[in-house]
Amino acid sequence: MDHFQYRDGILYAEDVAIPDIAAAVGTPFYCYSTATMTRHYQVLAGSLEGTGARICYAVKANSNQAVIRTMVELGAGADVISGGELQRAMAAGATADSIVFAGPGKTRDELAQALAVDIYQFNVESEPELRLLSAVASEMGKVAPVSIRVNPDVDAGTHEKITTGRKQNKFGIPIDRAMDIFDLGASLPGLAMLGVAIHIGSQITDLAPFEEAFDRALGLVDELRAAGHDIKRCNLGGGLGIPYSGETPPPPAEYGAMVKRLTANRQLDLVLEPGRVLVGNAGILVARVIHEKHEGRRFVIIDGAMNDLIRPAMYDSWHDIVPVREAAPDAMISAADVVGPICESGDTLAKGRPMAPLAPNDLIAVRSAGAYGAVMASTYNSRPLVPEVLVRGDTFAVIRPRLDIADLIALDQPPPWQSP
Ligand SMILES: Cc1ncc(COP(=O)(O)O)c(C=O)c1O
Repeated sequence: MDHFQYRDGILYAEDVAIPDIAAAVGTPFYCYSTATMTRHYQVLAGSLEGTGARICYAVKANSNQAVIRTMVELGAGADVISGGELQRAMAAGATADSIVFAGPGKTRDELAQALAVDIYQFNVESEPELRLLSAVASEMGKVAPVSIRVNPDVDAGTHEKITTGRKQNKFGIPIDRAMDIFDLGASLPGLAMLGVAIHIGSQITDLAPFEEAFDRALGLVDELRAAGHDIKRCNLGGGLGIPYSGETPPPPAEYGAMVKRLTANRQLDLVLEPGRVLVGNAGILVARVIHEKHEGRRFVIIDGAMNDLIRPAMYDSWHDIVPVREAAPDAMISAADVVGPICESGDTLAKGRPMAPLAPNDLIAVRSAGAYGAVMASTYNSRPLVPEVLVRGDTFAVIRPRLDIADLIALDQPPPWQSP
């Protein structure tokens, strides 16, 4: 459930009319709902009640300071994937002891940065990373808390580009090598080998692959313990899907019940790293119609584009697109391609969508854009990043202003041999 609803034919975010925000900040813009994020967090946290699981919000899904802070104030820690995300999470109030650091290519500097602030855990993804972490921690006189991210070779049944738990993916250490890696880690200085971590992919809409992967990870915990390793933690990753176009992902209650059933009596400190399920349906991208073009096909050309929201171009993903002013019940519906102004055929947000006629300046909302939306935006075609707005009840605030084209140009520095 989200808090983007029509009232008297106008789309609202909570108690704020979308046209009011558009009038204040221009278009396109991202708009997030605090109540939706809060509800999603609380439903997930409620489903895990009694497990003591830490919810470490996957900052990569939406790393705006206000969004991270919303999560932190609800009780979340943070899952980060780079030194930049570590700094962002801490700047937004996440304490170092609530942060897990994942990712297959952490650099020496990033490891040192995280060691310096004493994060909760490194999810180590390879033997070279383990050796590097040992060396850096030893130099710094630290002991790094380590979980080994294992690759359980489970097909998450999701899009090829967001599946991460099959053996051909670059992530994690093959589960059948895990025992050797734990033995190695236990013999290296500067490491505390504490746990097992997995993350098999994103936008997973079925419980079965989760269960299969969790089973394998927990089986490994048992084996490691039997071999004398003092395993205290298990990190179950993120990946829970959301409904973009009628999918029926497992309700958090079922997911939580499964986690409880599988982990009962195992005395493990659990970590989860959800991103999309917390923020995906809490955001929309609002754009303005430039005009329609009818040349054998109906194109609705809007001022939002693939640089603002790359998911459709990158993952062929579906986003519902709705008019901000509801169409009249007798409006003539026809199929339209919703496209942006960028010079790429891939700049298509939706294909063949049944839509009522749209006039220049009409507003449309691209739904479910709260996760992997603004964070993946670029300035391609010299289009400045768009503003982000956070709504809470009947108020809204700009949480990232629109960048100016002059600022963008000023980032380029002419070489000394060119006249400025
Ligand atoms: C290691 C890791 N944890 C958590 C997540 C968050 O996934 P999601 O947003 O699907 O919950 C990701 C994203 O792919 C990830 O790579």
